[in-house]
Amino acid sequence: MPVITTIEDLRSLARRRVPRMFFDYADSGSWTEATYRANEADFQAIKLRQRVAVNMEGRSLHTRMAGQDVAMPVALAPTGLTGMQHADGEILAARAAASMGVPFTLSTMSICSIEDVAARTQSPFWFQLYMMRDRAFMESLIERAKAARCSALMLTLDLQILGQRHKDLKNGLSAPPKPTLANLLNLGSKPRWCWHMLHTQRRQFGNIVGHVKGVADMSSLSGWIAQQFDPRLTWADVEWIKQRWGGRLILKGILDEEDARLAADTGADAIVVSNHGGRQLDGAPSSIHALPGIVDAVGDRIEVLLDGGVRSGQDVLKAVALGAKGTLIGRAFLYGLGAMGEEGVRTALRIIQRELDLTMAFCGRTDICQVDRSVLLPGTYPTAALYR
Ligand code: FNR
Repeated sequence: MPVITTIEDLRSLARRRVPRMFFDYADSGSWTEATYRANEADFQAIKLRQRVAVNMEGRSLHTRMAGQDVAMPVALAPTGLTGMQHADGEILAARAAASMGVPFTLSTMSICSIEDVAARTQSPFWFQLYMMRDRAFMESLIERAKAARCSALMLTLDLQILGQRHKDLKNGLSAPPKPTLANLLNLGSKPRWCWHMLHTQRRQFGNIVGHVKGVADMSSLSGWIAQQFDPRLTWADVEWIKQRWGGRLILKGILDEEDARLAADTGADAIVVSNHGGRQLDGAPSSIHALPGIVDAVGDRIEVLLDGGVRSGQDVLKAVALGAKGTLIGRAFLYGLGAMGEEGVRTALRIIQRELDLTMAFCGRTDICQVDRSVLLPGTYPTAALYR
């Protein structure tokens, strides 16, 4: 077993253990992957200010995200097909998040259903919703999230139509995988994954199959999304969801200042500055570049969270310094899950927590709630003026 000290170590192990089509599904972005790469690269370009001879005892990473106490400003992002990175993946990730004191978000497109995750975990989790054409199904999903006592609803606004990832098309992505010769040969080299998968019944989209009339199987994900996701979504629908849910609402997929203002007008509790991890509009700016302008545009009218490219505690500190109340991590936890199941997700969170704690200390700060852009080296970070 290799010694794991970074998220990249987890990624390498996941690449060995997860079938190619699911590893590629997590590990890629749309079209040229320029935005996907920029999400990480733009974090790296930002430099930190080292400070010395400051009392660093008694540090705290505790803060609040979307009205909830969290052990650090990190939550697990909603990711589809998580139960294909590792059998029962959503349940394992939710447990790992709870044990580390951070929120877990269950995707509409999860393998384990809302009810299943609620029954097998103790802490309330967040539920992510995609707007589909079938409004009766939308209402039933919202009711199911309420019945499962989900503590926030996250409505994703940037995937009414699906961006194209070349590898998914070439690999013939489906859940479960089709028994083609290429797939069978690849599965043959992933005995751990197969063993766990043979010991679970959860191999379909748990929130959907069996709940929507006429949907017994949705092996072709992109075809189903094209049919069911509603391309007519507007701010009026956001209001419709808000009325029906009645609880904490987070709007995900905001990348533009004008959209951020409109999102704040809805009275939602938080927005997530996000380009869907570089999986939708290739050529859009990185999330960290878009952040300062959006923070500037909304002021304190709405809480601002960020995801996209967060691979370390340094990245979390930089996002917080530029005005995010917290971050969401997608791939960083998926690599952990694929590598080592529940313990892998915990490892990913521990790595990020330790990096965040040490980095904050090196910058001469002891409380994450007091961190602002003065921990960053002027001239190295994006500003609100960047896209004006
Ligand atoms: C996602 N993302 C996503 N978002 C969402 O709202 N619903 C979903 O079902 C999914 N599915 C999904 C699958 C996979 C494999 C990935 C990598 C991402 C986007 C996700 O919530 C988040 O915005 C990004 O993952 C953040 O970028 P990083 O942390 O992966 O760089």
